Amino acid sequence: MQARASGPELKIVSTPIVLTDELAFCAARAVVATAIAAARLAGRGDEKAADQAAVDALRNALNAMPIQGRIVIGEGERDEAPMLYCGETVGTGEGPEIDIALDPLEGTTLTAKAMANAIAVMAFAPRGGLLHAPDTYMDKIAIGPGFDADVIDLDAPIAENVHSLAKAKGESVHEIGVCVLDRPRHAEIIDSLRAIGARIHLISDGDVCGVINTTNLDTGIDMYVGQGGAPEGVLAAAALKCVGGQFQGRLVFRNEDERRRADHVGITDLKRKYLLDDLVCKDAIFVATGVTSGSMLQGVRAAGGYSHTHTLIMNSATRNICDLRMKTPAA
Ligand code: FBP
Repeated sequence: MQARASGPELKIVSTPIVLTDELAFCAARAVVATAIAAARLAGRGDEKAADQAAVDALRNALNAMPIQGRIVIGEGERDEAPMLYCGETVGTGEGPEIDIALDPLEGTTLTAKAMANAIAVMAFAPRGGLLHAPDTYMDKIAIGPGFDADVIDLDAPIAENVHSLAKAKGESVHEIGVCVLDRPRHAEIIDSLRAIGARIHLISDGDVCGVINTTNLDTGIDMYVGQGGAPEGVLAAAALKCVGGQFQGRLVFRNEDERRRADHVGITDLKRKYLLDDLVCKDAIFVATGVTSGSMLQGVRAAGGYSHTHTLIMNSATRNICDLRMKTPAA
């Protein structure tokens, strides 16, 4: 046997994974506590109280987590949100540096009216992994996984996008389900969809679920389109990062104050079309717990001295997806 030539010793360095499944479960426990707190206010007609309960619970849970957390999408800017504001640091200050996008209560009106699809939702990424989206609207289009990159285009007319998706699926446009927020600003989109005979799934609120539902065949929703919150756009994109699918978005600015918000978070190209990887450029953890029952998650139920919760946990770093049912002793 030949002797090996001597040279510098080869060292194999493995980078430790930041987004572990343990961290994902820790994040899940935080949204479970948040959903339980918000659900106590379901059907009470008080949006603010429900939102406040969710914010308080999530902040407490985040501050107990072993992370150096920084909120990049939160309840607003420091001067308008006393807690969980963009830029706020959370966690014990030890552990990985994590950027956090959160909506403690996605669907405040849904909760106040005890309507379907309110969730507590959060996404984690290693530092720098999430777009710091300002609190403005965003034009969005999304489809589920398994299609070529050119099947949809935010800049194409909606009818063209639906025809293109129908062709890619080998189906008639009549079979394509499109989810749209029921808002006057979407009248033109809805008219175009009616004209070509697509199925329209109108929702009153909650477009994070609307986008994620494109990834679930059981919902009958193939496409999400329309204008909703930009923060919700980043949260939905984080979910698709984990489960697959396509998302395109463009920020919408209606006035000088909204342009100032963009400037504040360092966005200079106000017309940029963001693809999924522009919104979430590193791996991501996505967690959501149902507050009220809906198409994606069951809501919080109290029975036998426990709060029963239903949580979706997804981690693009490990590619694990978990549907978690938990029983938490009622406080
Ligand atoms: P809230 O959690 O603030 O109630 O937002 C719900 C929501 O429906 C989002 O899902 C959506 O992106 C946004 O509001 C749409 O905004 P608007 O109600 O102004 O059309």
